[in-house]
Amino acid sequence: MTDTISTVADSSELPTYPKRGIVMSHGLGARLWDTAGREYIDCAAGIGVGNIGHANERLARTVAEQARRLIVCPGSIDTGPRIELCAKLREITPDGLERSFLCNSGTEAMEAAIKFARLATGRTDFVACERAFHGRTLGALSGTHKPQYREPFMPLVPGFSHVPFNDLDALRAAVTDRTAGVLLEVVQGEGGIHPVTQAFIDGARAVCDERGALLIFDEVQSGFGRTGRMFALEHFGVVPDMLCIAKALGGGLPIGAVVCNDRIPAVTGRHGSTFGGNPLCAAAALATIEEIESRDLCGRAERLGEAFRARIADANLAAVREVRGLGLMIGVELTSEVAPILAVLQERGVIALGAGPNTVRLLPPLVIEEDQLAGVGETLVAVLGEQAGT
Ligand SMILES: Cc1ncc(COP(=O)(O)O)c(C=O)c1O
Repeated sequence: MTDTISTVADSSELPTYPKRGIVMSHGLGARLWDTAGREYIDCAAGIGVGNIGHANERLARTVAEQARRLIVCPGSIDTGPRIELCAKLREITPDGLERSFLCNSGTEAMEAAIKFARLATGRTDFVACERAFHGRTLGALSGTHKPQYREPFMPLVPGFSHVPFNDLDALRAAVTDRTAGVLLEVVQGEGGIHPVTQAFIDGARAVCDERGALLIFDEVQSGFGRTGRMFALEHFGVVPDMLCIAKALGGGLPIGAVVCNDRIPAVTGRHGSTFGGNPLCAAAALATIEEIESRDLCGRAERLGEAFRARIADANLAAVREVRGLGLMIGVELTSEVAPILAVLQERGVIALGAGPNTVRLLPPLVIEEDQLAGVGETLVAVLGEQAGT
């Protein structure tokens, strides 16, 4: 069965991601089973999507009920889930962030924010950070830094520049009176799990205010409890002009949003999305947020993440250069390449991700049981210990 599916995929799916040689069948909470019956602890969660875990009962019920009632409706006609979701996003984001544009993915949220910033300021340019990942559509890709993603698709949108992450002097030098916006991941995800510094995020807010540029936070990966707060920005007390979110928002269904302050004008007739805010995904998002709030998954992420990072750091492994992160957004930087480690972890029943060439990235569902996460810690310490011969 597994071999058959993989063979069919080889001949019929246009390859994008390098494949891992397994076919997943089903999941429950933080557990996954492949079609060969092997069990795994999921520390990828669909790349930071499944914060409320697999086969979540509230989400499954909500989606089934909504699918029976109404799945599609054009943006020109309101539905309860769309309106309620926009109101909920206003409630759970900081004061000042009020109106949401709903879309279907992280890259679309970034794409929209780039367009809105041009509209709001009448300017064209953007400053992003080195190591940034903002998505793969041409606008968002222009903010993404990695040459491997950018270079095959040149020329990109003109007017984008990159400064070293957390280098405030470089940011001050790069933001000019042509800058429409500064794009910033509050915790860089794909780039290696690097949290922003307080000085940089404060300085970014100040320099944007001084020069009339908009501050745009990309919390596509760090949002919805992942870092121990509903949004990572709460760790720093800085409010952007636009907050881009997606991934965990829908609990697994595709939905993204840009939550905007009053500097962003109405975009009636100038921007839109066929699927954005459809009642099915909006209902899924409401159920997901309800699940995060009612089970205090933010508090859980903070507590479990701290214990996990301490466990790995305390092991003092020669193979580990640094342990980073906030909540359950965890990076373990190695002294060697990460790819072989991910393969061994998978053999031992842990699905983990890479972030940059050397960093193991762990993004487990926030509902992961303490003993499951402790088991992941033991496996990681064992694998890294063997690797370095310590
Ligand atoms: C910080 C960040 N921004 C944007 C994106 C793009 O999101 P999507 O893959 O949903 O288009 C990602 C995806 O990994 C991300 O991590």
